[in-house]
Amino acid sequence: MSRRRSIDQARGRQLPASSRPVPPDPSLPAPPGQRPAYRSSRIGPPAAPDPVYRALLPLRFFLGGMFLYAGLDKLIDPSFLSALGPGSIGEQLTAFTHVSPLAPLIEVVAQPWPVAIGLLFAVAEIGIGIGALTGVLYRWSAAAGAALSLLFLLTASWDTRPIYYGPDLPYMVGWITLALAGSGGLYVLEGRLSAWLQDAPLPRALVDDGTPASAGRRAVLQLGVLGGATILVAVAGRAFGRVLGPVFTHEVAVTPTAASAPGSSAPSAAPAASAADASAPATAVAASPAPGEIANAKTMPARSSVDFQLANGDPGIVVKLADGKVVAYDATCTHQGCPVGYDPQAGLLLCPCHGAAFDPSAEAAVVGGPAPTPLAAVPVTIDAATGAVTITG
Ligand code: FES
Repeated sequence: MSRRRSIDQARGRQLPASSRPVPPDPSLPAPPGQRPAYRSSRIGPPAAPDPVYRALLPLRFFLGGMFLYAGLDKLIDPSFLSALGPGSIGEQLTAFTHVSPLAPLIEVVAQPWPVAIGLLFAVAEIGIGIGALTGVLYRWSAAAGAALSLLFLLTASWDTRPIYYGPDLPYMVGWITLALAGSGGLYVLEGRLSAWLQDAPLPRALVDDGTPASAGRRAVLQLGVLGGATILVAVAGRAFGRVLGPVFTHEVAVTPTAASAPGSSAPSAAPAASAADASAPATAVAASPAPGEIANAKTMPARSSVDFQLANGDPGIVVKLADGKVVAYDATCTHQGCPVGYDPQAGLLLCPCHGAAFDPSAEAAVVGGPAPTPLAAVPVTIDAATGAVTITG
């Protein structure tokens, strides 16, 4: 080949038909010692990306990033991968059985193995996120994202009213959009992976020759790469959980205040809790000065609360209402188990996770958000002389 022709080819100019090199025919067997001709459209200069694919990039990277974050968050959150306790997957599964149309399935398939199910969700979210971000098995990842979002819609978001408050519906529609559109070849590692497989010193049986069988092998290899990357990220995320914990978890340490000193009640000056302020307690923790005393009705100002712990480990909350009446509840939200906090301005118990609101003056009835039932009441006795509040019985 002349130097002139090489330059023309490098510049993509059309050569005269008589001098163009004849491409190998993929339908013919490869000459001895050579790899078969590759017929996949993934190799070679990519076509100019359609503006539509560029327009979908923000959605793709948002959904991929959020799923990756959600998966890591679940792995790192110390309360999630547990069978019991506020915020645990076990409590969430129990809450799902109260509201979800999949309740029978959850009871049989998920509740016996809550930690394994939580782990599965976390790893699946990480894999889907990586697939969307890297473009490896892109459409399959997006389809899996849509399926997982549908599962969350039928469980975690099922009781959200009105329906547009639930996040899983738009997630599902977003994933479906990406699965239908594909990546358009933009920012994908899949093409590079295929090229590597083509050039890699692999056994001939693994070489992609464009046949359906080799396409299947390529998909399996990509699944292996995606699975390996997922496990790597999951293990690394778990290992570095302690370092990354403050970034990923919802936990914020409760700082004892003067108002929460032993024997005192704790008027809350905290603003109303919100989804963006997931852990801001509306109350302070009080220590009991005497065995069994969880608060003191005499020293508690009206519209204040004191946290305590129930014998089963659940968080409890004592509230002194505006009219001076003292009530107590299990502070575990009946939606998915997050601990609720008292908002003195609203006079409500608010859940920071998905916005459930309970009225402590009306037996903790649900007045907003997705919680299916009121908070469990904790019967208390108040010593008329000392004001000591103790759990009855
Ligand atoms: Fe969802 Fe409370 S856990 S609203």
